[in-house]
Amino acid sequence: MSKLTPAQFVQKSLDLHLFFLRIMKEHSFFLEAAFVAKNADLIRRADRFRVVFEELLREAVDLANCNVSKCVLQSGEVVTDNTIEAEEKTEFLSGIPFDICLTKRETMLRPGPGDPALEDQVERFNNRVIRETRALIDLKTDVLEGMLDCSLFTWNFPLLIEHIRREALFYVDHLQRLQKRIVLDPTEEIIEEKRFWDRIMAEHSQFIAHLLDPTEQELIMTADEFARRFFRLEKSVKQIEKKDGCIPPQLMRDEIQAVEDIRDFKSTANELILACEIRSIIIPLLADHVLREANHFLALLTDCRKPAHDHRSLSQRYSVCKHREFNCW
Ligand SMILES: [Fe+2]
Ligand SMILES: [Fe+2]
Repeated sequence: MSKLTPAQFVQKSLDLHLFFLRIMKEHSFFLEAAFVAKNADLIRRADRFRVVFEELLREAVDLANCNVSKCVLQSGEVVTDNTIEAEEKTEFLSGIPFDICLTKRETMLRPGPGDPALEDQVERFNNRVIRETRALIDLKTDVLEGMLDCSLFTWNFPLLIEHIRREALFYVDHLQRLQKRIVLDPTEEIIEEKRFWDRIMAEHSQFIAHLLDPTEQELIMTADEFARRFFRLEKSVKQIEKKDGCIPPQLMRDEIQAVEDIRDFKSTANELILACEIRSIIIPLLADHVLREANHFLALLTDCRKPAHDHRSLSQRYSVCKHREFNCW
């Protein structure tokens, strides 16, 4: 099995941090903002994580200039065109501060191959991130258990806590693999990502449907339809397993189309929420957050992270079924 080179290790680690550290910082905010006054201790715990992950993101941004891939910077998974406005509006609505300068700095990052001289520093940084993310997972577990045994009330759905806990576990798994310099087979990797993100996209659709005002009938119906579509796509992984692990080309096309569609839906919702044209209890930063997660998934599917010297098409890189095309469901 081939191993990551020091330069690849540095670039892949920083690519991952630019996306996931902001996600972890915002999860901490979503937790913090949804507790009731009685749970001041939990508010303090979540607030500490918000500050810790903001600081970790600052350090990652310091390391990232000229050491991250162009694909990640251009994908809209790090910041979107609306992230700054969403943060400003969310700070105004919640009273919780956001480091907008940090977001602006991220928009100015330049791509470049990872500097191998940073390998040790990035390895130590990854270990710190793993430790803090595990601690945040513990908080999410405590909150979920409290909600499920009805000893705790928060304005977040239990599924949302479960969902953000799963995202944190996924981040830790990726980091541990990077620390071992493991290179996954591209087909295996895309199947793993698909299995994970299809469910995440389906759940985002469910959250959106449940957080919209009941009068927003049309948007609720659209969101429900996306949930059904992504749960169907999630099940299609079993079809791949039956086909000895190769990916039917039609399935890949359907997958990319579905993610582009949900990306467009979330992007429109993001704009409408910022313009105060939708009735909902969706705070602007949540709309931006789920849009970035769709952008991340789309970037993975369209394979923009492949090495610059690799000019093979998507179907040449992945093990695509050789027999006739078929629709999996
Ligand atoms: Fe998230
Ligand atoms: Fe999510």
